[in-house]
Amino acid sequence: MKYVNLGASGLKVSRIALGMMTFGSAEWRPWIRDEATAREVVKRAVELGVNTFDTADMYSAGLSEEITGRVLREFARREEIVVATKVFFPVMKGYQGNNARGPQPVVPPNVSGLSRKHIVEAVDASLKRLGMDYIDLYQIHRFDKATPVEETMEALDSLVRAGKVRYLGASSMWTWQFAKMQRAAERAGGARFTSMQDHYNLAYREEEREMIPYCRDTGVGVMPWSPLARGFLAGNRKREDMQGGGDSRAATDEQAQKYYYRDADFDVVEALTARAKLLGLSNATLAYAWLLQRPGVSSILVGASKAWQLEEAVKALEVTLTAEDAAALEAPYQPHAVMGHT
Ligand SMILES: NC(=O)c1ccc[n+]([C@@H]2O[C@H](COP(=O)([O-])OP(=O)(O)OC[C@H]3O[C@@H](n4cnc5c(N)ncnc54)[C@H](OP(=O)(O)O)[C@@H]3O)[C@@H](O)[C@H]2O)c1
Repeated sequence: MKYVNLGASGLKVSRIALGMMTFGSAEWRPWIRDEATAREVVKRAVELGVNTFDTADMYSAGLSEEITGRVLREFARREEIVVATKVFFPVMKGYQGNNARGPQPVVPPNVSGLSRKHIVEAVDASLKRLGMDYIDLYQIHRFDKATPVEETMEALDSLVRAGKVRYLGASSMWTWQFAKMQRAAERAGGARFTSMQDHYNLAYREEEREMIPYCRDTGVGVMPWSPLARGFLAGNRKREDMQGGGDSRAATDEQAQKYYYRDADFDVVEALTARAKLLGLSNATLAYAWLLQRPGVSSILVGASKAWQLEEAVKALEVTLTAEDAAALEAPYQPHAVMGHT
């Protein structure tokens, strides 16, 4: 395993981090795996030197945090690992996320967003579910248009001062929103965000325009989510059959079908498959290797649902792409509308 400092902070994160959204309850999303699978994957992750684990309060309505806490207590030493979770969305069984199709439950006031009231409430609920005394990286899952940024940054800073949280992070938003929050923290002399967890992979590169240059300029570590485009880059989805190929997630992850199934995205997969064949690698290993070599990227959040998938990610650390390899992988990309913000 390789470790890097997260942005300009002293926190050491493994370049391969394990995304814990995969684990929880299939009632939340049909492709979610159970706790027994989480145990296998996390055990292997720790053996491979993965020290960074990312969950969120809303994943499986809190069950992902519970599983993350239980399994990590079994396999890892608390002082060595980096536990990351998130706040913003409501923690409700029927709530699938702001991009989900179909009817959403009515969300009562004050149980989501980034008000001082909700943040203070949410951190204690996350700590309880994790069964831990502190969170290493506490991330805001989205930007809250309805709360003054000063209120949010002051509330987050108070958690650092109280010892409940070690570092702050943010996730998917417009660059101007992120910059506005960082400026508010600076003005108040409080804790700033150390990391940006954003949507970034070979099939979705819009973050290269503004967010990643901003993060590099200001010492913020980039942690891409869905590095394999929710499995789409693995090469087992079919143009002609939206439901086919791959594993259960290929058939049932509506968000992936909504995000990536354009003809131009399949062209990206074809170029990846051809180059992977030439180099004797799997599509997944090559897609991870490309992302790990992009400027500004600290740690990638791999959504492995099986131990062998994690091994394919770790293998990417040994792959060095030539300029010709990178150009071949990047050539078919066509810009996307921005996706993944609130
Ligand atoms: N901040 C945010 O808003 C946000 C949003 C999304 C995700 N995330 C974070 O990012 C993490 C990863 O997201 P993700 O699950 O969408 O990531 P991903 O790594 O792009 O996709 C994971 C899926 O790809 C397939 N896969 C993985 N390795 C493979 C391999 N070697 N060969 C073939 N297929 C493979 C698996 O599908 P099968 O299970 O079908 O095999 C798996 O479910 C999450 O757990 C979460 O921590 C954050």
